[in-house]
Amino acid sequence: MLALSGMRPCPAPFQADRTLAVGGAVGYDIAEVLQLTQERSLRDKARTLLDAPVEERLLYIREDHWIGYPAAQMVLAKLEDLYAAPDVTRPENVLIVGHTNSGKSSIVREFASRHPAQNDPHAGQAELPVIVFDAPAVPTEERLYTHLLNQLGAVTRPSEGVDGKLFRVRTLLRRLGTRVLVLDEVNNLLAANPRIQQQVLTSIKELGNDLGRPIVLTGTEVALAALRLDPQVQNRFPPVFLPRWVLNRDYLQLLASLESFLPLRKESRLASEVIAPLILEMTDGLIGEMILLVRRAATEAIRTNVECITEKLLRSLDWHSPTERNRLSAALELGAPARPS
Ligand SMILES: Nc1ncnc2c1ncn2[C@@H]1O[C@H](COP(=O)(O)OP(=O)(O)O)[C@@H](O)[C@H]1O
Ligand SMILES: [Mg+2]
Repeated sequence: MLALSGMRPCPAPFQADRTLAVGGAVGYDIAEVLQLTQERSLRDKARTLLDAPVEERLLYIREDHWIGYPAAQMVLAKLEDLYAAPDVTRPENVLIVGHTNSGKSSIVREFASRHPAQNDPHAGQAELPVIVFDAPAVPTEERLYTHLLNQLGAVTRPSEGVDGKLFRVRTLLRRLGTRVLVLDEVNNLLAANPRIQQQVLTSIKELGNDLGRPIVLTGTEVALAALRLDPQVQNRFPPVFLPRWVLNRDYLQLLASLESFLPLRKESRLASEVIAPLILEMTDGLIGEMILLVRRAATEAIRTNVECITEKLLRSLDWHSPTERNRLSAALELGAPARPS
């Protein structure tokens, strides 16, 4: 548990003579921190909404806005490399590993949106350079192909069998000019027994070899463990990790970016020395949790007319960190009293 100083009204000034340090681990350029915490640069859209009706502001707060933080940019750059690579018989693949809510799906969706479908009226056919699809729950090799074909709008018949479906998948992906195929949430594969898991993973690898194009998988550490069961598969899907956030410059920058999307009439200074560590603690350093928390807090700030996110407001929310939630549900399962510690 972090030791936090007393509650402050908004906006909370940053103490210029101190270095931010949590757990004794982090220290960084004070000038940069001051810049991040002292200046609120609202996005144009958020600024124009400052005088809009409450409901309109609340709706905007719930919208997703892509934030290109450095770790995400690095993964995107890797995906762009794969995209640009020429066709080869053993294409390079990648496994994006991160906790639930660490931003994996957002990155692959952002990547896909940078390579949208094209309709060429002259050639009379569509191109789909990047395909993102969710690994089916209860997977088998056949379910995987059926799922992919259905997602591409192709009708499937049970009589086709695995080979028939695989043939159609290959033909269709070649016709669509698909350069990168992304299988999101590969941990869904873990619903199957280890033998079927390995079969499906091998068939994914072979599909990439056949097409000569890279395959991108996303999943949690559990997926990483499943891939490890087969060194042949593991070697072909080198992992890149999306770690949890820690109190450093990138994190403060993320908070400043989040704040820039909030149509609140007063500055909150999310990156300030009191609020930044508190948000980290309440969210276990997961971007998806941070965004949910900030949305909940901003909504409350508008509804209560406070118009900024303060320490007091954050602490008043009915909110449990993922760790606390796990503890609570474990306690409920065991029939123990469900009280947060
Ligand atoms: N780069 C980002 N920019 C803006 N919001 C993001 C970003 N990454 C994640 N989020 C937010 O966090 C939520 C959870 O992220 P997601 O990509 O679904 O995580 P995962 O796939 O790892 O479980 C998203 O719905 C989105 O609101
Ligand atoms: Mg996801």
